[in-house]
Amino acid sequence: MKIPKPQRTARRRPRVTGLRTPLPPLQDRPGRPEQPAQPQASGTEQSEQIVISGCDYLGLSDDAVIREAWLNASASGPLQTGASRATTGDHPLYRRAEKAIADFLNEPAAVLTATGYLASLAVAQGLRDQATHVVVDASAHNCVQDGARLSGLPILSFASGDARALRSVLRELPPSARPLVATDGVYGIRGGMAPLNEYLLALPASGWLWVDDAHGLGSVGPTGRGSPEFFGLRDSRLIRSVTFSKALAVAGGAVIGDASLMEHVRTRAGAYLGSSAPPLAIAAAITAAVVRVHRLPGRVRRLQELARRFSNALPSRPEILNDPRTPVTAIHPRDAAQAQRLTEALTQAGFVPPWICYPGGPGGGFFRIALKATHSRSQIDRLARTIRTGLNA
Ligand SMILES: Cc1ncc(COP(=O)(O)O)c(C=O)c1O
Repeated sequence: MKIPKPQRTARRRPRVTGLRTPLPPLQDRPGRPEQPAQPQASGTEQSEQIVISGCDYLGLSDDAVIREAWLNASASGPLQTGASRATTGDHPLYRRAEKAIADFLNEPAAVLTATGYLASLAVAQGLRDQATHVVVDASAHNCVQDGARLSGLPILSFASGDARALRSVLRELPPSARPLVATDGVYGIRGGMAPLNEYLLALPASGWLWVDDAHGLGSVGPTGRGSPEFFGLRDSRLIRSVTFSKALAVAGGAVIGDASLMEHVRTRAGAYLGSSAPPLAIAAAITAAVVRVHRLPGRVRRLQELARRFSNALPSRPEILNDPRTPVTAIHPRDAAQAQRLTEALTQAGFVPPWICYPGGPGGGFFRIALKATHSRSQIDRLARTIRTGLNA
């Protein structure tokens, strides 16, 4: 579906709030912490363009503390180690980041990877000698599906979010099977959560539950520790892959779980063995971001409050996919004309229309809305009103 470009309604250049500010050159940095992005006073909202896309759920992409950790590390040491950690490329900053991640998630161990996508590949490669099958939630992200393929194991799929469908697939496996069940914790394209508690109940003692919690980390669970925290799960069969490029506003990924499983990842996964870790400044920034989320529980609560508020204010319509537990909402317009009207309504109301095409979403494109803890309540209310009128018009 082709959506024409929205017309500009204001003459003067709109201010865009919430985008990453480009970093100035290093020598210009006075080392003075900057203020994080703040919600705008309601009187000025109409003259700004508000970003409601992306994955900066906690609004940390301008965070002064994370930025300082990043800049300090790049100013004071080597930029990178120039080799895979499995050879000569290890560094204390990587080990420090891994400890911070594992401690934050209250899990025994973590393995850092250059991206979240690689973390998923590393899970599947790390467990390929252990598992006999990969059983994949049909809506799992591309990297989970690719990981399943790369494992070389037989792949089975079940209807997304449907624990009964999972159970019936698992029942068909031979008694000796050791299935690796794979899913997203929070579905990043349409919002909503996989019922991890039910998936875990369906799992045989000899299996594993692999949760790609790229969109859950920082956004769900009482303290932002992600989907397992939301469901109160602790289980040695649970393995997560995460990215730090979303709520934690940095980059890089990690696999987290039982220490012996992490050892399999370190010793078997090509995506770890044959790939360099992220630059050292990223590792330092990840550590800072993890500590930041730990110290800012109010941000997590605020995001969750906004998500509930938005959900309550949205009309109930078939075009809208929303779950009050998550900050992501998808809108699938029924035709190009409706998409165009919503685009115009959003633009008029000061929002950058979040129209995207993405693997796993509808082929022609869709609106993917991502709330941030730094949005104001009045922005969220206005957004819901705009969607109501834009879809009705
Ligand atoms: C569910 C999910 N997993 C993994 C990734 C990949 O993360 P990264 O961008 O760090 O490679 C994404 C990125 O969009 C994602 O949505």
